[in-house]
Amino acid sequence: MASYDVIIIGAGPGGYVSAIRCAQLGLKTAIVEGRETLGGTCLNIGCIPSKALLHATHMLHEAEHNFGSMGLKGKSPSVDWNQMKAYKEDVVGQNTGGVEFLMKKNKIDWLKGWASIPAAGQVKVGDDTHEAKNIVVATGSVPSTLPGVEVDEKIVVTSTGALDLPKVPKKMVVIGAGVIGLELGSVYARLGSEVTVVEYMDAVCPGMDKDVQRGFKRILEKQGLNFIMGAAVQGVEASKTKAKVKYALKKAPETEETLDADVVLVATGRKAYADGLGLDALGVKLTERGQIATDAQWRTNVPGLYAIGDVIEGPMLAHKAEDEGMAVADVIAGKHGHVNYGVIPGVVYTTPEVATVGATEDALKAEGRKIKVGKFNFMANARAKAVHQAEGGFVKIITDRETDRILGAAIIGPGAGDLIHEICVAMEFGASAEDVALTCHAHPTYSEAVREAALACGTGAIHS
Ligand code: NAI
Repeated sequence: MASYDVIIIGAGPGGYVSAIRCAQLGLKTAIVEGRETLGGTCLNIGCIPSKALLHATHMLHEAEHNFGSMGLKGKSPSVDWNQMKAYKEDVVGQNTGGVEFLMKKNKIDWLKGWASIPAAGQVKVGDDTHEAKNIVVATGSVPSTLPGVEVDEKIVVTSTGALDLPKVPKKMVVIGAGVIGLELGSVYARLGSEVTVVEYMDAVCPGMDKDVQRGFKRILEKQGLNFIMGAAVQGVEASKTKAKVKYALKKAPETEETLDADVVLVATGRKAYADGLGLDALGVKLTERGQIATDAQWRTNVPGLYAIGDVIEGPMLAHKAEDEGMAVADVIAGKHGHVNYGVIPGVVYTTPEVATVGATEDALKAEGRKIKVGKFNFMANARAKAVHQAEGGFVKIITDRETDRILGAAIIGPGAGDLIHEICVAMEFGASAEDVALTCHAHPTYSEAVREAALACGTGAIHS
């Protein structure tokens, strides 16, 4: 038994970042993790391995579609799937190893095993019960499936199984046109699978800017993804080698349609995960959606017990969890911890990337807010043309019509996931579009399109 100022349960981006900040603030800190490696879903079976596969398959796409036009002649590379998976695992290993190094460097104890909280101020791991003045639950989320769909992680898979398929399927059906469905759907389409995405809503990426939804779907269709929109999946029948997906179109709900697949990816969202902690017995309040309920400083209703990341309300994003992890450490150390939930970017790592931040045009209009929209197409951006990523891409900035203050932005284009941060910083500083427009941007860069969209909020873009 040991005694700590803080014990953090879960070593994903929320938990491990929180642990580091706690240690930096002079708190005696331990982190509990039952997985073999640190980093949680994000590093082990989420963001990082999927980015490795997206990168590798983007290279393949470039070789197959664009090398010839750039004078790079020769046979396209063939796919060694096992080697691609080994590369992905190597990337994962480097990152999880990096987190382990950071724990040691910051003198944070890794309590290996699965935690429970037998009483306030106590954390049990294996046979040992430790004392903690503060406990932070950062246990994340797991995929949520649909009624009538049984996941075996072989034929019917979640993102976890989809990152480790034994072979590239000929036919893949993806249920859900959200972030996971589109990223992993892109990976397999580039590898040669016939990919069909079945989505309940009438647009991809629910909640995103409408222009982006339309443009993004068009780009993905050009890349070979098939979409069946407005279709509710009602069940999947799977054998050892194949599956049949049953769905009904919203416009004809009584008729049942089917699709055959070698692999079905269920990407219909994730749900908070806190199994085995003993929250019920502790009397921890949950939200209606089963997340841990917290106040604005991540306190639960049990004194000394905090929760952050996917296990509480808000977007299920690693960087949101990281921000909460740092802020809760500040709160525990008696400082002022704060997260600006109005400026949390969202990124889809397809090619081109899609990135958004702040309010959407539709939401602001629905509020009756007077706004101005500045838009600039990547077709007029020299650098984007040079890398074959100009088509269909754009930057859109939305401002308050009276004050010119930036309220939101959406980008489809090369490096969108990095470009969006210029807008995030601008929004954090309460900047106007004119502030961005008056800032010198290097030429030739993708970021010039951001400046042009800011100019379009005022007297007009130069290159359109
Ligand atoms: P999602 O919530 O983004 O999308 C799920 C989609 O499934 C929705 O479009 C929904 O309408 C559809 N759907 C639900 N039931 C259906 C049915 N019966 N038939 C047809 N369609 C149906 O969930 P997703 O993609 O699984 O991602 C889970 C979480 O992980 C999200 O919160 C996401 O933000 C996060 N994530 C973020 C990433 C990133 O930031 N790049 C990458 C991967 C995941």
